[in-house]
Order: sequence, then C-alpha cells, then structure tokens
Amino acid sequence: MGALKKGLRAVFLRIEAALESVFGARHNPLTQLGTLGWFLFWIVTVSGIYVYIFFDTGVTQAWESLDRLSREQWYLGGLMRSLHRYASDALVVVVLVHALREFAMDRMRGNRWFPWVTGIPLLWFLYACGITGYWLVWDQLAQYVAVATTEWLDSIGIFAEPIARNFLDSERLSGRFFTLIIYMHIALPLMMLLAMWIHIQRHAHARVNPPRALAVGTLGALIALSFVWPAMSQAPADLDRAPFSLGLDWFYLAVYPLLERMDGSTLWLLLVGGSVLLTLLPWLPPFRKPPVARVDLGNCNGCTRCFADCPFGAINMMKRTDGLAFEQEARVDPDLCMSCGICVGACPTATPFRRVGDLSAGIELPDRSVAHLRDEVVAASAAISGDARVIVFGCHHDADSTGLVDTGTAVIRLPCVGMLPPSFVDFVLSRRHADGVLLSGCSGHDCFERLGDQWTEQRIANERDPNLRARVSRDRVAVAWNNPIRQDALREALAQFRAHLHGLAAGNPTPQSAPGPAAWRAPLRGLPAPARYTGQALVYALVVGFVGFFATQPAYTYLADDHALLKLSFSHAGQPLKPCRRYTHEELTNTRFSERSATSCERGRWPVYVELDLDGEPVYRATHEPAGLWNDGPSAVYARFEVPAGRHRLDARLRDNGADQGFTFTASRIVELQPGQNFVVDFRAVEGGFTFGLPAQDAAGQEAP
Ligand code: HEM
Ligand code: SF4
Ligand code: SF4
Repeated sequence: MGALKKGLRAVFLRIEAALESVFGARHNPLTQLGTLGWFLFWIVTVSGIYVYIFFDTGVTQAWESLDRLSREQWYLGGLMRSLHRYASDALVVVVLVHALREFAMDRMRGNRWFPWVTGIPLLWFLYACGITGYWLVWDQLAQYVAVATTEWLDSIGIFAEPIARNFLDSERLSGRFFTLIIYMHIALPLMMLLAMWIHIQRHAHARVNPPRALAVGTLGALIALSFVWPAMSQAPADLDRAPFSLGLDWFYLAVYPLLERMDGSTLWLLLVGGSVLLTLLPWLPPFRKPPVARVDLGNCNGCTRCFADCPFGAINMMKRTDGLAFEQEARVDPDLCMSCGICVGACPTATPFRRVGDLSAGIELPDRSVAHLRDEVVAASAAISGDARVIVFGCHHDADSTGLVDTGTAVIRLPCVGMLPPSFVDFVLSRRHADGVLLSGCSGHDCFERLGDQWTEQRIANERDPNLRARVSRDRVAVAWNNPIRQDALREALAQFRAHLHGLAAGNPTPQSAPGPAAWRAPLRGLPAPARYTGQALVYALVVGFVGFFATQPAYTYLADDHALLKLSFSHAGQPLKPCRRYTHEELTNTRFSERSATSCERGRWPVYVELDLDGEPVYRATHEPAGLWNDGPSAVYARFEVPAGRHRLDARLRDNGADQGFTFTASRIVELQPGQNFVVDFRAVEGGFTFGLPAQDAAGQEAP
C-alpha cells in the first residue's frame, strides 16, 4: 500500500508541477478538483432544470421531446442538453481523480477519514444519477440501460417478480417504472447535494468555488465541446428489437458490459466489497496519531484566534471554567486535532519576546513547544555566518528544505509553516539572529494542512491576526511554496533571496514583487505568457476531447447483427402443497358469519420446474422456488439467450405439482427469428400455457409436430 501511494504521489506531483507552470499555483486544476466537482455539479443542475422544462415525461413522448429540443433549439436547448451530459461526465473524471489524489497524498488518515468515508456514498449517488439520467432519454441506449439494470437488480434476488419483466417487450412496457425513474433522477441529485455538504463539514473554510478564471475556462471548454459534438439521442427505443451496437457512455456505464461476462450477483459483490475496502483505507495500516494540541488555560485569554484558524474544526470556544476574567476559553477536541500546529501560530501569547516566567503559549503541541522553538532559533543563529544569513522555517511536506543547510543557512522544520507565530519572524530579524527569514511550505493553495500557506501570507500582509509587526521589513521575509519534487525551485528561491539580501546591504534591492506589506518572492523564471495560454488551451482541449470521446466511443456491440434475442420469462404460481379443502356445513355454522370462507387452504406451493429446448438441444433447465415468506407466492422465471436468426424449433415444458417426472404443460413451436428480434416465450396458465412472441407472432408461428 505504501509503495502504491508513493508511486501514485510521484506521478501526481510531476503532473501537478507541469500544470503549475502553465496555469500558475492558484489555478492549478489538480489542486482544485474538489471545487471543480462543486462547479460541475451546479452546471449539471442548471442545465438539467432547463432541459426538464421541455421534457415530456411519457414513455412515448420522452424521446421526441428531447430530439426536438436538440434540433429545433440547438443554440440553447441543445447546448443545455450537451452541457448536462458532458458536465456529468467531467464530474465523474474530476471525482475519480480527486479521490485517487487524496489517497496518493495520504489525506485520508486521522480525522480526515470523515471526508474519505463520506466520499464513498457520493460515488454511488453520482453513478445512480447518471444511470437514471440515461434511462429518461428512452432511446436504444436507455432501453439497454433499463434492461441491463433491471436484470442486474434482479440478480440480488429480493424482488418477488423480476423487475426486468417490465421491459420484456412493447406489450408489457408500462409507464409506471418510467415515472419512478424520473422521480429518482430528481431525488438522487438532491441527496447527492446533501452528501456533498456533509462531505466538507469537518473542514473549516472548505473551498467550494474554483477561482474565477478556472471556472470560466472550464465552462468555456464544455460549451465549445457542446457545439462541436452536440449530445444527441440514439435511435428511439423499441422493446421488440434488441440493439446491435450502442454508443456507450463509458464514464457511467463501463461496468455494464461486464454483466455479459459475469453473474450480476458477483458484480454486486465486487462493487460492494470494493466500496467496503475503500471505506477501510484510512485505517490501513493503523494510523499513529502524534500528540494533539493542548490548551494552557493560564495563558489563554479566549481571543478566539486559534478557533478561527484551525483548518480541521478541532477547537471550540467554551464558557470560561477557571474563574479568570475572560469570557471564553479554547478547548481542543482530540479526535479532530491533526497536530498541524497552526493554532500555535495563531496564538498571540506564543511570542518569544516574553520575559516574565517560562515561555509557554495558550495552546501548544506537547512535542514541539514554543520555548523549544525559541531555543532552536538561537542555536540556529549561532551556527550561521556571513553577510546574508538566512533562517529557513520549513515544513514536513515542502521540497526538502533540510537540503538547504550551509554556512549561511540554517533550517528549522515545523509540522506546518502556519505553526510559526509571526512574532518569531520579528524576533529573528530584530534581534539580528539572521539577515533574512525564508518560509518554505508545500505547494501554494494546496497546503497539506489545508490553510497553512494562506494564513501565513495573510499574517505577513496584515490581513489576519496575529499580524507581523509593521516594523519588520517585508524585504527580509520571503515565502516559497513548492511541492516536494520541486527542490530545484526551492534552491533557486533561496539563491535569489540571498542575492536580494546582498542587494539590500549594498542599497540596491530587487523590487518587491507584490504591492503592500506582502512577503518577498523570488521572481522565478516561468513560461512566457503566450506559451502559458497555449498550454492552458491545450489542456482544456485534451480534457474535453477525452470527455467527449468516451461519452459515446468506442461503440459497444450488444448483439451480433445476425443474431436475435430469445427471452424465457413468466411468473407462475405452482400448485398448493396440499389441495384446498371445502369446509363442512358443521364447520361453517360454527364460524362467525364475517369470518366464513368456502375453502381452507394451507400455505405453501410446489416449486416450478421449467425446460426449454432449441432445435432439440437443451438451453434451459431450472427449478424456481415460490416467492414469499411462506413460500406461497408465484415462481418467477427470467432468462435471456442470444440465438442465430432464422428458423428454429422451440420446445417448452413446465411442471408445477411436485411430481418427480412428467409435465403439467408442454408446447412446441417453429419460429422464424429475424436478426435483432426480441422474442419472448411467456407462460399464462389462464390462456392454456406457453405463448410464443407477441400475440400476432404466436398466431403466425407453426405448431411443431
Ligand atoms: C461529488 C463528489 C465530490 C465533491 C464535489 C468533493 C469535494 C470536496 C471538497 C470541496 C473538499 C474540501 C477541499 C478543501 O477545502 O480542503 C473535499 C475534500 C476531500 N474529499 Fe472530496 N469530493 C467529492 C468526492 C470525494 C470522494 C469520492 C472521495 C474519496 C472517496 C473524496 C475524498 C476527499 C477527501 C479525503 C478530502 C479531504 C482532503 C483534505 O483533508 O485535505 N471526495 N472534497
Ligand atoms: S494542531 Fe492543528 S488541528 Fe490541532 S487544534 Fe491546532 S490547528 Fe487544529
Ligand atoms: S489563540 Fe491562544 S489565547 Fe487565543 S483562544 Fe486560542 S489558546 Fe487562547
């Protein structure tokens, strides 16, 4: 597992670094997958509402209404329909990559199990939304989805009568099931929205909107795809014919072809088992939790800053319990704390300038106290020399800042850069422990501890308490956000910062890259603007090209074009285990009038045994138990065979009386099957037994000798 994660992480980091050079850190699509998921969900919702306004909800009218919308109103209705489909497909891609990335980055351990575990039902909701959506179009793909889904559901064995019988042939098709699917296609996205909301409940300040430029680019790319490759219906559904070849949406329906190769119940087992395994991943192997943050009430004044900054919602402000003259006190929930230390960076009492008593902050990580941190700074300062001495505060997920140590550079590593109280930067510079401070964190806008980079920059820029004091020259405070494989970029940033410090000493500083009291950043060499825009266009084109292609291609062959489908399906109640007995006159007179009935029948029926031969060869032999808790319901039969088109002899036999041999009903018929025909062998005891095909076809068939 560890090796798999490491390998995947290396791949993600490489792609991420490449995308960052084109999109920049803030707009990097790989670090915005969660927000893109929300954005795509809204596109799907808005376009879905528009399409629904023009959708006729009848089985026969559905296809026509959608086809009309695509053709007559292609500029808006057609666009909305295409957006609805492609944004749904893109959502699958985004969500799967998001889940894979969180796994690769190990962001599902500890308290992070919550978004991971709540993400699994989200996947199920997403697929259920897509599958019911394809059903509504009522074209050949919808027909395939309806038949395959109901056959698959029947394999669970909980329905008294196979629900696939609703789609046996045009005669039996009812709008009942169709209406249910419409309700489901509206209810499921609402449930999914609720699940999405729950998904981010444990994350403070969760981001749900992508940066505007990324949102505009994504929407623009989907609109372009919609015009270039409009989403259209396939031929209208016809349950008396089976489709030969289908444009399958591989994002939603990729598992369906497996149903032709494996038993439906095995596929359920694989998917449910896979989901359970995925659910357990955050605890595999068991997570060793570092010591969590601890509040020292003697130093806590209830200022709420730690509460405001904790990325994992692990701090609550409670009514004061120690009698001190403050209204509130901070309290850490140890189950939620991820030991990132960001609360320490937020606490105004975590200042190294304190002289009175031992240095102890209102909130501390027990294995990383601020007193110890001050000692580390003093020791680091003593170890460096030169005229541009730099103390680097790095984090456990940066581009290996420990490799920067040299005669002029000391490195102190923290769980997260956000743990560093700004007063420490002031302490280093005002006490001349170094000439410059470099804060090295993991990738910008995608901090491993979620908000460390954001809070650090805001504290330096006077936008968030506790601020870095105004007296500290921002020219001597640099930030560098690099993911772990960008070690060269970190070295380059340090080299440029040192050159900048030399320049300052010589009265010739490099200009500040950002206005206001922002931290200094190395003006690293990047791609020229035209190359960046071309790169972005290429990435959008590749992604929507991928989405557009696999939304219908490669075509899936459901039935060879010289074959027909033969279905044996019916529901028939076997004979009672014991024949019913008429009540005697005496029994009836002893029974109250309102409770009287003519016969007494014991519950329980014989199973139904069925045989079907094709051209004298057995194709089906099975015993079907009666449904119901008391084994007194009908026995249901549903089987499907692909047979070469042409003339065939069919022999069907049924036994429903518990005898060892012999049959209660037999029938034989010579039939002429057309390529693609959907031919149903049914059984209706009241009509005398087996029927072959639709009534007209049955009448035309010949009785076999
Ligand atoms: C519609 C589907 C989904 C959407 C819209 C979505 C969206 C989000 C968002 C907005 C965040 C918070 C990002 C932040 O501000 O830190 C997040 C976090 C997370 N998601 Fe999802 N997500 C979805 C599905 C999934 C799935 C299927 C999984 C995995 C099974 C998953 C696993 C996670 C994890 C582990 C985190 C926490 C990351 C961290 O702690 O930094 N998500 N998701
Ligand atoms: S260590 Fe991190 S997760 Fe724990 S309380 Fe502090 S800020 Fe919150
Ligand atoms: S930041 Fe410090 S002083 Fe303020 S509430 Fe939290 S622990 Fe108390």
